[in-house]
Amino acid sequence: MKFFIDTADLDQIKKAQDLGVLDGVTTNPSIMAKVGITGKDQIHAHYKAICDIVDGDVSAEVLSVDYDGIIKEGEELAKIDNQITVKVPMIYDGVKAIKYLSSKGIKTNCTLVFSPGQALLAAKAGATYVSPFLGRLDDISTEGLNLIEDIRTIYDNYGYTTEILAASIRSPMHIINCAKIGADVITSPLASIINLLKHPLTDSGLAQFIEDAKKL
Ligand code: E4P
Repeated sequence: MKFFIDTADLDQIKKAQDLGVLDGVTTNPSIMAKVGITGKDQIHAHYKAICDIVDGDVSAEVLSVDYDGIIKEGEELAKIDNQITVKVPMIYDGVKAIKYLSSKGIKTNCTLVFSPGQALLAAKAGATYVSPFLGRLDDISTEGLNLIEDIRTIYDNYGYTTEILAASIRSPMHIINCAKIGADVITSPLASIINLLKHPLTDSGLAQFIEDAKKL
C-alpha cells in the first residue's frame, strides 16, 4: 500500500519524506489556504516545491467547476511537473474532464467521492486515482470503511486499474483497516502515520534493553 501525506506544509512533507515511507502528496483548496498560498503563480510555485521534495505523485486540485475551465487548469497544472496529478471533483463536468485528461496521458485524481456509483463512474472515465472520503462519512454516522470495501469489490470484479486512494483519514486504525481491505493508497495527516509506529510494549521493552545493555 502506498502512503501519501495530505498536506501542503513543506516541513511536514520533508519530515514524512525523511522517514522513508512517503509515496506521494495530496492537497486541496482548503489545505492550500491553510498554508497561506494565494494567487496562481504562488500556487504553482508551491506545487513545484512539493514535487522537489517527494519522489511520487502530487495531487493538485482544479478550482474550476466547468468542463472548459477544468481542462484549461488541468493542462496548466500538469505542465508544472510530471509528478502532478490533476485532482478533479466528482461532478458531471468533472467526469467528462477526467475522460479527456486521461486520454491525453494526464494523471487524474477524482475527489469528493462518497458512493460506490461515483467510484464506478470515475473508473470508467479512466481516473488514475479515486478518492473516497472515509472520515467525512464517519463524521455523519456512516461506516466509511464500507465504501472502501464496496469500491474494492467493484474494481476487482471488472479489473479496473484506477487506484483506490482512501482519503479523509483520521487515525492509525483507519490506515490499518484500509490496508486490510486492500486500498491501494491512503492519504493521511503525518500524525496518523507516525502513530502507527507507537506501542507501549515497544517502549517498555526498549527501556529494559537500554537498562540491561549497561551491564554488558
Ligand atoms: C483528500 O484528497 C482530501 O484532501 C482530504 O483527505 C480530505 O480530508 P478531510 O476530510 O480531513 O478534510
